[in-house]
Amino acid sequence: MRKKLLAGNWKMNLAWNEAMTLFANIVSESKPYLDKVDIAVFPPSIYQRQCFEFAKQNKSAVIVGAQDCSAQNGGAFTGEVSAQMLRSIGVSHCLVGHSERREYHHEGSRMLSEKVERLLEVGLIPVFCCGESLQDRDNDNQTFVIDNQLDGRIFELNAELFSKVVIAYEPVWAIGTGRTATAEQAQDMHEFIRGLVQSKYGAEIAQNLRILYGGSMNESNAAELLNQPDVDGGLIGGASLKLDAFISIIKAAAL
Ligand code: 13P
Repeated sequence: MRKKLLAGNWKMNLAWNEAMTLFANIVSESKPYLDKVDIAVFPPSIYQRQCFEFAKQNKSAVIVGAQDCSAQNGGAFTGEVSAQMLRSIGVSHCLVGHSERREYHHEGSRMLSEKVERLLEVGLIPVFCCGESLQDRDNDNQTFVIDNQLDGRIFELNAELFSKVVIAYEPVWAIGTGRTATAEQAQDMHEFIRGLVQSKYGAEIAQNLRILYGGSMNESNAAELLNQPDVDGGLIGGASLKLDAFISIIKAAAL
């Protein structure tokens, strides 16, 4: 039985005091649910260390993740943050291949593979994002696109390393648009992804893989999405910035 993972991707939002207040409230209000579900917050990089320390001091299992890391190990790469640095401050998960980074930072498949490798080398868990554009969905090309985003990228990993990865399916047309995938569309794609993983790595790894849905998940649609057999949690943007909405989604997953 896969434990659901609810992850809040704060993106580039919140001033420091707002971020710390929200994080403290998430830590206190998520307490009753942490035995049933895993909860993660992906704050902007400069807040990660303090969030981790706060969770630790409060003996909370809320996970602190990073939104990005460098494809390099270290050295003369101004502005970059390495996987090793993330690990040294207590970060345990890192998003890779979010559609906003693919689009605005031109991150291609080779770079994404390198980031996954850097993370796994130091024991961090990559949350590998994939998702099709509206045009691809309208042309019924979504499975082709997802297959292509996974094949030859994270599917290059050996079985032992792949078994550490989390996949997030985030249709680009549903991110920040208020237009969520229907529960059926999400289930169909998650089932398709699990099938790809099964044919590559076998049934046990496929059954243990967590596949998160992301794209306008909120307190109204979360229960139906999270009820689908292959939806193992959510990667939540806008709604994770609102305490009540995020906690409602966590509650829906914990039922
Ligand atoms: P929204 O929940 O705001 O649509 O964002 C989803 C997302 O991109 C999470 O990574």
